[in-house]
Amino acid sequence: MPGHQQELNIIVCIDPRRCGYVPDDMGRKGPELLTGLRQAVVDNDWADKVQVTPCRCIFGCTYGPRLDAVSRHGGGKVLYGSTEGKATISRRGTVDFRRIPPDLTQLVSDNLGTE
Ligand code: FES
Repeated sequence: MPGHQQELNIIVCIDPRRCGYVPDDMGRKGPELLTGLRQAVVDNDWADKVQVTPCRCIFGCTYGPRLDAVSRHGGGKVLYGSTEGKATISRRGTVDFRRIPPDLTQLVSDNLGTE
């Protein structure tokens, strides 16, 4: 539909400077996470609600691979990486990380607020 904006935009760092080649503890690098999230969207018929977008460095590379889930309905931005809890990163200061879960469908569902 024209002008339609998805409820959720997930931006996934695939920057070759780090997230493109440093895996998380499950062996997933940025490109695999991008593919997995896109597959979760297709499998769950969420294409009208969720956009998954590759990006370059979004900071917090030390805790990569990194992705951010940005909700358009007041949920703000949730930062994901390879750690859980507070950490200080360049440009953004102290932030609260969530660890990227094994189940990427769960990650999408958590940020959609689906019950
Ligand atoms: S290279 Fe991915 S967050 Fe910096």
